[in-house]
Amino acid sequence: MDYSDEIKKRRTFAIISHPDAGKTTLTEKFLLFAGAIQIAGAVKSNKIKKTTISDFMEIERQRGISVASAVMSFEYRNLKINLLDTPGHKDFAEDTYRTLTVVDSVILVVDSVKGVEEQTEKLMNVCRMRKTPVIIFVNKMDREGGSPFDLLDELEKKLDIKVRPLSWPISRGSSFKGVYNLYDKNLHLFKTQQKLADMEAVSISDLKSSLLEEHIGAENALQLREDINLLNGVYGTFEKQGYLSGEVAPVFFGSAVNNFGVKELLDAFVEIAPSPGPMAADARIVKPEEEAFSGFVFKIHANLDPRHRDRIAFFRVCSGRFERNKFYKHVRLETEVRFPNPASFMGQKKEVIDEAFPGDVIGLYDREIFKIGDTLTEGEKLMFKGIPSFSPEVFKELIHTSMKAKQLEKGIKQLTDEGVAQLFLMSHGNRKVVGTVGLLQFEVILYRLQHEYGAECRFEPVNFFKACWLTTTNQAKLDEFCKFKADRVGRDKDDNIVFFAESEWMLHHYIEQNPEIGFHFTSEFKNDTKE
Ligand code: G4P
Repeated sequence: MDYSDEIKKRRTFAIISHPDAGKTTLTEKFLLFAGAIQIAGAVKSNKIKKTTISDFMEIERQRGISVASAVMSFEYRNLKINLLDTPGHKDFAEDTYRTLTVVDSVILVVDSVKGVEEQTEKLMNVCRMRKTPVIIFVNKMDREGGSPFDLLDELEKKLDIKVRPLSWPISRGSSFKGVYNLYDKNLHLFKTQQKLADMEAVSISDLKSSLLEEHIGAENALQLREDINLLNGVYGTFEKQGYLSGEVAPVFFGSAVNNFGVKELLDAFVEIAPSPGPMAADARIVKPEEEAFSGFVFKIHANLDPRHRDRIAFFRVCSGRFERNKFYKHVRLETEVRFPNPASFMGQKKEVIDEAFPGDVIGLYDREIFKIGDTLTEGEKLMFKGIPSFSPEVFKELIHTSMKAKQLEKGIKQLTDEGVAQLFLMSHGNRKVVGTVGLLQFEVILYRLQHEYGAECRFEPVNFFKACWLTTTNQAKLDEFCKFKADRVGRDKDDNIVFFAESEWMLHHYIEQNPEIGFHFTSEFKNDTKE
C-alpha cells in the first residue's frame, strides 16, 4: 500500500511558549479558523495559576474529563493538522520536552512586551538540539513596547537562531495599524477584537503605491517603506530549506486575542511546515512511507479517579498504517497486543478510530503495560530514539514512612513510567533519589501515592545540583571516578550511570579534571553537552 498521500496531508506540531505569552489563545484561534470549535473559551487553559496542589489536581481532573488534553486534530485546507498540547507550567516542562520529540515542527509564541523569557530559551534549546523547524509568533502587538528590530535582535541572540520576518508590524500599541505580509505581499489592517469575517486585506504588491498612504497615513507609509528596505538588506530572501533544517526561524507579528495576524500565520504554516519525516530508532532510521507499521508511546495520562486504574498512552505513529484490533508486537515486553478502542481527538471530541497514519497521535487504553518510550511494531525489534530523560532540576531523597512498602514501590514505579519524575538508585546504601523539573511535582507524587496506592513517604533534601549521564572511552578512569565519588553516583531506570554534581562550579571542575569522561545532560548522548 502507498500511504504517501496520507503522509503529505499531515502536519504534526506543537505551540510552545513561556506561560502567559498567549499559547492557549493562539491555539483557540487556530481551532476557530479551522471551524473545529464554534465559540471562544472552549479551549481550557492548562495554566496553573496559583501553583498549588489543589489547582494541579483540579486541572488534572478537568483533563481527565475533557479530551483535549494531549492532541487536538483538525482539518484545514484539506490537510490534517495534529496540534499537540503542552503544559504551561514550568514544573511540567519535562512533559513538554517529551512532546517536542514527536512533533515535526513548532510554533513558538513570544510576548512582544516581555521578549524572550526563561522558558522560551529552554524550550528553544530542545528544538535546536533536535533541529526542529520553528516559526516564531510575536504576540500582543496591541500593547505598547519596544522596536520590532530590537526584538528580532533579541530573538537571534537569546534563542541562538537566525530569524527572517515574514510579516512586519506597522506601529504598535494604541497606534498599531496592522501588518504587512512579506510572504503574500499584502497589507492587513487591524481592528480590535475583529470578527473572523471582518478580516480586511489590501493587496499591495508594490510598496511605492499610494494605496499605502491611503490606508495607513503618510507617516506610517514612509516608515514601512524604510523598514522593509532595511529588512530586505539585513535579512535577505527567505529560504524554505533553512527553515526546514532548523537554521532559520520565520517570524510573524500579531495579536492572538484580537484575531490579528493569526490567519496569516496559519496559512504560512500549512504551506511551509513539514509533513511527517523519518524517525531515528536504535537499529536504523524509520521512514514514514514504509509499509510496516511502527510507533511509540511518548506520554501516559493517568486518570486520577482512584476507582478506575485506567490510563491513556499517547502514541505517535511513525510508519505504515495502524489498524484497530490488529495484533502488534510490544517490543520491550516481547508480547503481542491489540487495541479494540484506539482513540483520535478531532477538535474537542474523542472518537474511536479504525486506522491511523504516520504523524497521527492516538490514545491507547493502557492496562499498565506501557512506559514512556515503548515501541509497537509488526514484529521488528526496534526502539525509537529521541525520548531522552532530561536532567532534572530538583532532587530529593525518598524515605518510606508507611508499612506498605510493596504499594509504595509499585506506585513510584508507575509514576516514573508515566514520566512524572525520574527515580535514581544511588550506589551507596540503595538510597532512592527522585528528580523532577519543579517542586510542585513532589506534592503531586505524595498526593498520588496516597490517593492511588494508599502508600506514604516523605522527601528529604539532598545537595544535588544536576544529574549528568556519564560515558567514557577509558573504562578504568570511569570506574575510578565512580568509586571516588560513590556517594554522588547512581543508576537511572535503564541502568545508565548518572553522576550528581553539587554545584555548577564543581561540575565545571569535574569536567575539566576528567577529559576522558563525557558528562551529558540528557540520557541520549548526542549534541547535548551544551546547557
Ligand atoms: P498561555 O497559554 O501562553 O499561558 O497564555 P494565554 O493564551 O492564556 O494568554 C495569557 C493572557 O494574555 C490572557 O489574559 C490573554 O487574554 C492575554 N492575551 C493573549 N493574546 C493577547 C494579545 O494579543 N494581546 C493582549 N493584550 N493580550 C493577549 P488573562 O488576563 O491572563 O486571561 P483572560 O482572563 O483574558 O483569559
